[in-house]
Amino acid sequence: MSKISYLNDKFINFKDAKIHVEDRGLQFGDSIYEVVGFVNKNFIDINFHFQRLRYSLKELGIKYNFDNKKLMNIFYQLINKNFLKNGLIYLQITRGVQPRNHVYKKNLKPTVIIYAQTKSFNLPNKKFKGVKVISYPDLRWSRRDIKTTNLLPNILAEKIANKKGAYTSVLIKNNKITEGAHSNIWIIKKNIIFTHPVNTDILKGVTRTALELIIKKSGFKLNENSFTMNQFFNADEAFLTSSGSLVTPILKIDKNLVNDGKIGKITLKIAKLYFEKFSNENLKN
Ligand code: PDD
Repeated sequence: MSKISYLNDKFINFKDAKIHVEDRGLQFGDSIYEVVGFVNKNFIDINFHFQRLRYSLKELGIKYNFDNKKLMNIFYQLINKNFLKNGLIYLQITRGVQPRNHVYKKNLKPTVIIYAQTKSFNLPNKKFKGVKVISYPDLRWSRRDIKTTNLLPNILAEKIANKKGAYTSVLIKNNKITEGAHSNIWIIKKNIIFTHPVNTDILKGVTRTALELIIKKSGFKLNENSFTMNQFFNADEAFLTSSGSLVTPILKIDKNLVNDGKIGKITLKIAKLYFEKFSNENLKN
């Protein structure tokens, strides 16, 4: 656990980082967040995270102005103060504090919480791992494009996945897979890569955005169309993406093996291309 965190303009000990009981983030889930990966002290796709952060703030009308460079500097300081190399930055911005009322007041001062955690990533090397997932109903609200901390349906799905010894759950709405409880989901059939289109039914993953560019550039065919459970069961390969999981192969869904339970060639290639991309970007910085 990190020792130094950042709360409302100050670096403080993690154990002293407390927020008010009437913080709207606590009482109403009136808050948004970002999770940013870093490898060798370099951030992965940081500009896409800043773009999405601005989008979430705008969609909910939370008035928090920030400068990318200044925020990145806070992230760096957290990494250094906590002696980290590989890990995740967690950033949460709540609408602020006021006497409890569903109606929010104008001009509240947002609460800003930032801290860093260490993490060993699933990188496409000798230790590259695939995972098992389960399917679960998508019980979420209809604005999943906003990265809010309203994650109750996600955590209930993850509890079941965890109970069943799975890494995560893939969420089903109207017999179609939307995304994972904390990732985007992809399948490959006859060399075509499928993933759910970007709309209000899913979170536009930063890893998804970066991968989309890589896939198009490297000549693979991408089909942004949702797919059914049956299509998943019959897929040649499958994988999930997120800032924490990067590109992680899916080897089993419920009781069905994918690609005989082995990591697929295209998945491995894409994971390597992504790893190369963010490693090279870091060299340039
Ligand atoms: N989750 N979909 C959902 C519902 C998510 O929560 C996430 C990320 C993603 C992938 O987004 P990205 O590639 O930008 O990380 C898709 C983060 C990591 C989390 O909640 O911990």
